[in-house]
Amino acid sequence: MDGLPGGVAHDFNNLLTVIRGYTELIIQRLAPGDPSLPDMQEVKKAADRAAGLTGQLLAFSRRQFVAPKIVDLNAIVLNMDGMLRRLIGEDLIELYTDLDQQIWPMRADAGQIEQVIMNLAVNARDAMPTGGRLTIETRNVTIGEEGRQGTVILEAGAYIRLAVRDSGQGMSEEVQGHLFEPFFTTKETGKGTGLGLSTVYGIVKHSGGVIGVDSQPGQGTTFKIFFPKAEPVEQTVADGGTIIDQARGRETILLVEDDPAVRGLVDEALRLKGYEVLIARHGIEALLAGAKHLGPIHLLLTDVVMPQMSGPEIAEQLAIARPALKVMYMSGYPDHPIFSKGGVKAGTVFLQKPFTMGALTQKVREVLDGSAMRQT
Ligand SMILES: Nc1ncnc2c1ncn2[C@@H]1O[C@H](COP(=O)(O)OP(=O)(O)OP(=O)(O)O)[C@@H](O)[C@H]1O
Ligand SMILES: [Mg+2]
Repeated sequence: MDGLPGGVAHDFNNLLTVIRGYTELIIQRLAPGDPSLPDMQEVKKAADRAAGLTGQLLAFSRRQFVAPKIVDLNAIVLNMDGMLRRLIGEDLIELYTDLDQQIWPMRADAGQIEQVIMNLAVNARDAMPTGGRLTIETRNVTIGEEGRQGTVILEAGAYIRLAVRDSGQGMSEEVQGHLFEPFFTTKETGKGTGLGLSTVYGIVKHSGGVIGVDSQPGQGTTFKIFFPKAEPVEQTVADGGTIIDQARGRETILLVEDDPAVRGLVDEALRLKGYEVLIARHGIEALLAGAKHLGPIHLLLTDVVMPQMSGPEIAEQLAIARPALKVMYMSGYPDHPIFSKGGVKAGTVFLQKPFTMGALTQKVREVLDGSAMRQT
């Protein structure tokens, strides 16, 4: 979506800059008692709000698309750690994360969840001008028949709860009543647009979740969001009906696949089993991902035949910096010349497309454990 919405928002922003700029100039020229002054101030306020709105639009359109997937909330939180610390400024505010180590999977767009956490963290920071403590907590919760959790009412079921708690100034019931309304803000003009929480609300709703707030003046604030637990993608009962449940892991896998549908599916299947997945659409992206990722990469899971750079070539390049990298190929062309020409080294593990997700995750586990049957 690099085209229309992003481009329009950009042009719109430029126009708003002009409107705000001239309004400011006029305001400066007007004598203090001029009857036009309050009117011009209203124009400026509206332009400021519009600028905030386009900011949000831009933030949305910068994400190529909103792609709900099975995600690991903990991974998202951990991934944002550095950014959050910079955002809140660590000299005054302490950041704590308290994560449920067995957190269930949920279905959402990771970028949107980041946006939720960021908006809540910025609000928390603003509520603690003289410092305090910001805690981000994740928990699995099961709601029985009762259904009431603080200020929110939930249907019975299993949820992933994200809580963002601050020790800040808190808020009155009056403020709480308007919190999620677009443009509701208690911040001075130019400071807040009042779009943070309405954006959060929209995203939470979109992922089937519920948001509530606990707060009292002077007592800090806790936002709690409940996301429904995702049902695992239908277990593929393949290979004589055995479901392999041992196929889980927490390792990091670099997935290289040029077909978006296959890429999405494999990514989801692996994440669901607990793996961290780095995604690349082709060789160059794979090498970049390899260079950028600071932690270990345990497995390269790659397509074999791709334009520009083949799977074996990618493996060879990556192995220079990461000699311990394990490799597993997926391909629909077992007869492709690349195999006979020795591009694929003997002793590498190969999964033939089409494969079931059960077969994939089982094979991945075997390769990581070094127990896979080698073939070629
Ligand atoms: N953690 C918090 N503690 C105290 N008050 C809060 C907190 N979070 C939100 N609020 C109140 O809710 C209002 C609305 O928040 P929201 O994020 O929607 O807008 P904003 O922060 O004012 O502006 P924006 O996020 O668009 O820059 C805030 O102005 C503030 O009064
Ligand atoms: Mg805000």
